Order: sequence, then structure tokens, then C-alpha cells
Amino acid sequence: MFYEQAMSSSPDASVPAPHGDITSETVPFLRRVLITGASGAIGGALARQLAAPGTQLLLWGRDAARLAAIAAECQAAGAAVELRQIDLADPATAADAVAAEDNAAPIDWALLVAGQGDAVPPGQIVEPAEQVARLAVVNFAGPASLAAALASRMAGRGQGRILLVGSAAAFHALPHAPAYAASKAGLARFGEALRLAVAPHGVTITLVSPGFVDWAGGGRPVPKALLLPLEDAARRILAAFDAGAGHAIIPRRFALLRLLDRVLPSFVRDALLRRLKP
Ligand SMILES: NC(=O)c1ccc[n+]([C@@H]2O[C@H](COP(=O)([O-])OP(=O)(O)OC[C@H]3O[C@@H](n4cnc5c(N)ncnc54)[C@H](OP(=O)(O)O)[C@@H]3O)[C@@H](O)[C@H]2O)c1
Repeated sequence: MFYEQAMSSSPDASVPAPHGDITSETVPFLRRVLITGASGAIGGALARQLAAPGTQLLLWGRDAARLAAIAAECQAAGAAVELRQIDLADPATAADAVAAEDNAAPIDWALLVAGQGDAVPPGQIVEPAEQVARLAVVNFAGPASLAAALASRMAGRGQGRILLVGSAAAFHALPHAPAYAASKAGLARFGEALRLAVAPHGVTITLVSPGFVDWAGGGRPVPKALLLPLEDAARRILAAFDAGAGHAIIPRRFALLRLLDRVLPSFVRDALLRRLKP
């Protein structure tokens, strides 16, 4: 189960200051959980659903105001919270930060959610080179190197769990979003391989590949029937993580699309993919 009774915890109900000025908790916590992308829709929803007495949440993101708002909700639910405003476009900075957090106290769970969705800009045929490079770092190199660093430390301790949030886009050659699809495909393959490497050492790697998640800021030009409500998506992600699943595609109809992509003759698949719009 995710939610356990606190051994003892009386988290400060005020919104914490940015990382570095935070008063460290002196009470023992049952679980120390890192969430990247906590200032975003899915990361924030995961944080809210995990927030409970006995949980210490390390919430990472770039937007200080949104991080503070999520932190306040999590604290109101009884969790202890620390914030870190960090740009994960620099994997070296991310590596230093995660080492500092894990040295301070071992991270039990890491939910690596941060990522950017991007498509070919209107009026252009392909994505700008800068966008391709940025997505490769933020969606693949960054989370993969964070996962490697954490998995290595967790394997040394003989326990730990890591969640990688990929995308159903990973399984399709999307002409309107090649860099996004490829960055998530790389993360998916990395996650599968890492899972095999560290499972014998007590570390669980779960990859969840969502389809379209519906949230207020999303502005999705996709049929309502394809959208998964945000809190439902977060519940399904946590259910897969809780079960220690290797890979979950949510909702299931996107697993069917993946299967179709594999079995359709290539000329049919290519014709269908060319019709997709951003
Ligand atoms: N929404 C969907 O339909 C959908 C579907 C499949 C997969 N996903 C994946 O789910 C994850 C979360 O997406 P979301 O829908 O919650 O989007 P979102 O609301 O835009 O959240 C993205 C999060 O990633 C963080 N982030 C982006 N670039 C960053 C960087 N350079 N350094 C540090 N943090 C960075 C953002 O931080 P700031 O906001 O503070 O900048 C934000 O917290 C992403 O990996 C996305 O690819 C989403």
C-alpha cells in the first residue's frame, strides 16, 4: 500500500522557502520520495495523491509559484515537503542535486516525471535542431542519467523504486513530433534495460507510458474520448508503480494502438501516421 501510518510527524503547515532555506525535519520518516516535474500537471497530481503523514516529498520543478502551491496542498495533507527549483536541462546539475539529496538521507522512491511535449512548429516541415537537442536532454538524457545515479545507489542499499514517465508516443513514428517520440522511445528502452539490470539487487523500475492526459492547461485538440482525466491518470500511474509493474501503457487503448503499429503493413501504417496532426 502507498499510505502508511506516520511514526511521528508534525510538518510545518506554512509554504516552505526554496531549497536551501528549508528547515530540516528532525522526525523520522517512513518514506522519502523525489518527484521531478512536481510543478506540472501530472507530477503535481502524483504529489497530491502521495501526500500523507509519514511521507517526505522532495518536489522538483522550475516554476517557484506552482511548486509552492503544490507544496502547500501536500503539507495540508500531512506530508513533509522540501522544494528544489532546478532546470534539468543540465544533467550535471541534476546529478549533483540528486547526490546531495540522497547523501542527506536515502531516497526510497523516485518519480521522474519532468518532461516537455513539443511538435513541429506551425508552418515548418521539421523541428528546429535546437528543439531536437533540447528534447533529447530533458526527456531522455536527463531522466535516464538521474535514474542511473539513483538505481546505482538504491542497488547498493538493496532496495528502492523508480518511476519513469514516458509516453505512448514512444511507440509510433510521429511525423509531427519526431523528437518527442524518439526521446520517449529512448527513455522506454533505457527503462526496460535498467529494470533487468537492477531487479536482482532489489530495485524496481516502472515505466508508465500515458496516452493523452486531460488537464486544464493542456488545450488538447484531440477527441474527448481519447483523453484520460488527470487524477485518474495519476491513480493509474501509482497503481502500476505500487504493483511494481515493468511497463504500463495507460489507458489500455493505447496498448492496442501500439500493437496495431507493429502488425499493420508498413504502407498502411505510414499512410495513417502521415494523417496525424499535432
Ligand atoms: N499530458 C499528457 O498528455 C502526457 C502524455 C504522455 C506523457 N506525458 C509526460 O508526462 C510528463 C508530465 O507532463 P505534464 O502533462 O504534467 O506536463 P506539464 O504540466 O507541462 O509538466 C511538465 C513538468 O516538467 C517540468 N520540466 C519541463 N522541462 C524542465 C526542465 N528543463 N527542468 C526541470 N523541469 C522541467 C516542468 O517544470 P516547470 O513547469 O516548473 O517548468 C513541469 O513540472 C512529461 O514527461 C510528459 O512528456 C504527458
